[in-house]
Amino acid sequence: MDQVTFRSDTVLSDVHLLLPNACHLMKRLNSVGQPVFTSKFRILRDCDGKESSSESPVRESTDASNVPLDEDGDLDVVRRPRCSSSNRDAVCPIILSQSAATLTDEEEDSEEEDGARDVIRIEHTMATPLEDVGKQIWRGAFLLADFILAQASMFTGATVLELGAGTGLASIVMAMVAKTVYCTDVGDDLLSMCQRNVTLNKQHFEPQESEIRVRQLDWMADDLCTDADLDFCWTDAEIGDLHDNTTFVIAADVCYDDDLTDALFKTLYRLASNMRHPITTYISIEKRLNFTLRHMDVSCEAYDHFHHCLVQLQQMTDGKMSFMVEPVKSSFPQFFQYERVEQLELWKVTAERL
Ligand SMILES: C[S@@+](CC[C@H](N)C(=O)[O-])C[C@H]1O[C@@H](n2cnc3c(N)ncnc32)[C@H](O)[C@@H]1O
Repeated sequence: MDQVTFRSDTVLSDVHLLLPNACHLMKRLNSVGQPVFTSKFRILRDCDGKESSSESPVRESTDASNVPLDEDGDLDVVRRPRCSSSNRDAVCPIILSQSAATLTDEEEDSEEEDGARDVIRIEHTMATPLEDVGKQIWRGAFLLADFILAQASMFTGATVLELGAGTGLASIVMAMVAKTVYCTDVGDDLLSMCQRNVTLNKQHFEPQESEIRVRQLDWMADDLCTDADLDFCWTDAEIGDLHDNTTFVIAADVCYDDDLTDALFKTLYRLASNMRHPITTYISIEKRLNFTLRHMDVSCEAYDHFHHCLVQLQQMTDGKMSFMVEPVKSSFPQFFQYERVEQLELWKVTAERL
């Protein structure tokens, strides 16, 4: 591969869009030929709110005060000189290796040496088609991660299930405080990348004997996969542990397609009705505004559908389960550097068996 092409039907997360080049290095091609990058994210403060002692954040500041303004206060945008596309420099990445998603012993050792206590390293791809969005990191994962660290005592020692975990960032942060995290998503390729991130960051949770189990959980399927011939399948003991001990479910940026959102809510209902304890779920979402010809206006259809599902869940009277829904104020401190835009929201859903 000698040229990277960004196709028009691909999407790129703002997290990667704003990440300065110095912070990510193309490491290899994954098993389906997509370039894999590593990004480092520094935890800016400890759970007591004290700022981390490290000199500067790994992420470059996106502080608005750095943006040049003209004398009227308008943005002074420096435009790229107009030139024909043939004059543009071709992007010729150097690929370090093409490898399966397992770490060699040597790689693991050097990753560990590099793995400072306050830095989370995540491997991810960029500009994926919609079906591969889980291979990027989304701002909703940072909002959720901030909330977890801000409310660390609430999650301490808990068993937690993450749905649609993608690269695994929120699960890794959760394992810094919780005891067991079932980190779930779909697709061997994505789950392998997630497992690799878990291994890369084990210094954050292994010392306190917490664990992350990366498992397949497809919202479109009725049951958890227990076929031992398949990777990331569940054992009966794990399913027992999940049902007996889970008290929290978390999900970041998982509502962007109405059919998937419907399947996610059905999964939430089914899981909650199988759990021994009442379950509290935290879901982060980014309200994405789009102009549509159908509305001839700006709308946020995926968010509206998510909201509709929340209302339906709360109004449900099936005599078996009761759900309560409330927004969570996002005034908690920021532990990671990212743009906490006002469109980022966190919702709390509590479920109880009647
Ligand atoms: C926008 S990504 C968010 C990833 C990650 N939570 C984050 O915020 O960085 C949506 C996630 O939902 C997952 N997903 C989509 N359909 C799913 C399904 N049927 N079952 C389980 N997960 C699914 C995707 O694989 C992807 O990881």
